[in-house]
Amino acid sequence: TTVEWEAESYDMGGHDTYMHKEIHEQADAVDRALRGRIDDRFSTVHLGGLNLDARDARAVRRVKILGCGTSYHAGQIGAQMIEELARIPSDAEPASEFRYRNPVVDPDTLYIAVSQSGETYDVLAAVQELKRKGARVLGLVNVVGSAIARETDGGIYVHAGPEVCVVSTKCFTNMVVSFALLALHLGRIRDLSVADGKRIIEGLRKLPAQISEILANEEQIEKLAEEYADAKSMMFIGRVRGYPVAREASLKLKEVSYIHAEAYPASELKHGPLALIEPAMPTVAIVPDDDLLEKNRAALEEIKARSGRILAVAHQEQEKADHTIVVPKNEDELDPILMGIPLQLLAYYTAKAMGRDIDKPRNLAKSVTVE
Ligand code: G6P
Repeated sequence: TTVEWEAESYDMGGHDTYMHKEIHEQADAVDRALRGRIDDRFSTVHLGGLNLDARDARAVRRVKILGCGTSYHAGQIGAQMIEELARIPSDAEPASEFRYRNPVVDPDTLYIAVSQSGETYDVLAAVQELKRKGARVLGLVNVVGSAIARETDGGIYVHAGPEVCVVSTKCFTNMVVSFALLALHLGRIRDLSVADGKRIIEGLRKLPAQISEILANEEQIEKLAEEYADAKSMMFIGRVRGYPVAREASLKLKEVSYIHAEAYPASELKHGPLALIEPAMPTVAIVPDDDLLEKNRAALEEIKARSGRILAVAHQEQEKADHTIVVPKNEDELDPILMGIPLQLLAYYTAKAMGRDIDKPRNLAKSVTVE
């Protein structure tokens, strides 16, 4: 069951939908998430509400991130960032799966509950169960003072501001940025070097301007959406850092346009879904300019050889793709923050071309506060 969506009365500021407005608020939202938190002296960040001292942070042996929907996808990116920057084994799991499987609750694991509303029942129930068993649980939450924020031992507010559209855009981006801050903080308490800390901080500072750059490319994305809106189904692929980006982009398209979409790790294509590839099933490929670039290019070739249409999101034009959306390059670890943003616009314009009820998709609620 779900609760009814209620239109909050805040100004649309000339945008036709809250989704469009919220996509365009992302440069400011990210700026807010960074403000007052960067510590240049020690090349780290201050997270005031974390409630986890350095000794506790060093004792963490695993990180387990729990969330639902878009927040779960933000958690998947977060887990990769924590693992890369802090070298702590980390993973994300849907909160409902976690709580239904009688998980082993480990005292050396740091649990993190991710939620825009802070009220999602499955996440709250997982938090309460963890607390009951004595685990340490942090919240990564947008709504200040919400149930999950109150019931966790500490955490990070993502500072995305109010999000009205049922599908999450700016909050997702701010969650991922918040995870980057946490990963940097944990990394600098452990083995991340000063030089790497500086590099990540410089990358974080570039984000707002780079987001504005991506959004300035809106016209190209609008045209591409019209081009692909005839698809019955779409495949989204990515590898490692790009895979959760592909999953979130596929979810966004499904939610607002009702076009069926699947997300797959690029390397898994050959183990089954390649059978689906034909001109009527276009592929959106996340192709960052990192150490996996050549591998990703090979996947594009495989798709092209089966006459699949390809839309790439990349740091440079992709020869094998029919179209490329070029996004600005950041540090490898932070690229996932930017690569999903044009695909929010793709979902928005596809839904618009199809006349969908963008802010309130059928059958969905902004927050699901009951079981
Ligand atoms: C609902 C919304 C999703 C959201 C999920 C988790 O299903 O439709 O957009 O990602 O709940 O919400 P939360 O508030 O916990 O982030």
